[in-house]
Amino acid sequence: MSHFQTVKRVPGDPILGLMDAYRADRNPAKLDLGVGVYKDAQGLTPIPRAVKLAEQRLLQSETSKSYIGGHGDPLFGRLLSELVLGANNPLLTERAGATQTPGGTGALRLCADFIAQCLPGRGIWLSDPTWPIHESIFAAAGLRVGHYPYVGADNALNVEAMIAALTHVPKGDVVLLHACCHNPTGFDLAPRDWKRVLEVVKARELLPLIDFAYQGFGDGLEQDAFAVRLFAAELPELLITSSCSKNFGLYRERTGALIVCAEHAEKLQDVRSQLAFIARNLWSTPPAHGAAVVASILHDDELKALWIDELNSMRERIASLRNGLVEALQPHGLSERFTHIAQQRGMFSYTGLSPTQVQRLRDEFSVYMVGSGRANVAGLDAQRMDQLASAIARVCG
Ligand SMILES: Cc1ncc(COP(=O)(O)O)c(C=O)c1O
Repeated sequence: MSHFQTVKRVPGDPILGLMDAYRADRNPAKLDLGVGVYKDAQGLTPIPRAVKLAEQRLLQSETSKSYIGGHGDPLFGRLLSELVLGANNPLLTERAGATQTPGGTGALRLCADFIAQCLPGRGIWLSDPTWPIHESIFAAAGLRVGHYPYVGADNALNVEAMIAALTHVPKGDVVLLHACCHNPTGFDLAPRDWKRVLEVVKARELLPLIDFAYQGFGDGLEQDAFAVRLFAAELPELLITSSCSKNFGLYRERTGALIVCAEHAEKLQDVRSQLAFIARNLWSTPPAHGAAVVASILHDDELKALWIDELNSMRERIASLRNGLVEALQPHGLSERFTHIAQQRGMFSYTGLSPTQVQRLRDEFSVYMVGSGRANVAGLDAQRMDQLASAIARVCG
């Protein structure tokens, strides 16, 4: 008898499939705009110098590989919370606490299990579209998953439809919001939109979960935290998932946190006791290395300044690539049609290219992007912008 007889194969992640196809492509002019990692002008995903320096120091100073506690490194938790909520935020004294997790994904999964186990009956509402892993994480935890409109078929942010839909979400449900650099679209809410969303959240007594995976990649470390800090100031309770994968370049070190804001200190400790219990069953204690790196950077003025410089360069490079592509499309009479690419934020752009156009770009020009038309802007090559613009013009013609 085979125990595995009935086990069916699930299709692989389409983005990983895209990576394989890209690797196999022999065209020297190929371009990878698929997978969501930052790339520099050489097409590499660099280790920031601040990270390298922090690692050198850690190598010298580390004396044990024993487990860290269930909530992780307290220094990391405090410094990351300060980065997210603002250094002088009064919540930090006793109403907010971080639980270190394996990346932002771990924070989301911890959050999903917390909602399922401790807030039974609550559904979660995701933007349409959203990062596909949001869908599967909350479904895996057994939550009822709903969607609110975000970007429509016209490839434009539809705040009115979003607000209207949230107005009908059952009272008490959880609503997941992307703090900045919305994945996959790149369309972000303006401050005035955030204030309107906040009003609906208050009126419907919703619990916001803000996914903060790209702090520093949009408009700046402080600017990108606008929504998080607004909601934290105005609401008694808030869940924030923070990732250090992109902004610290620590992708494989699996570094992140779930930050909880509660109404008072006692309740925060109740929630944190549940989080430690749930995390114990998921991964026991979190991986230490990435968090130790982040803590050493944020704790040292010199390393922090260096890291902020490097982060600023990454953000500025993405912005200049966005503008460069729109400019390169101008001679083809397409700059107006694609002007949104320069307005979007973060690594991703919903280009508005159809699945057929995406397929043609891949088959005829070796340009690889996700079928939805999502392009990783950081994968663009400033030297080959005209080549890409011509290819886009051909498939749009
Ligand atoms: C919207 C969003 N949330 C969370 C994550 C989680 O990132 P990680 O688990 O790599 O820290 C990502 C990564 O791509 C993301 O795009």
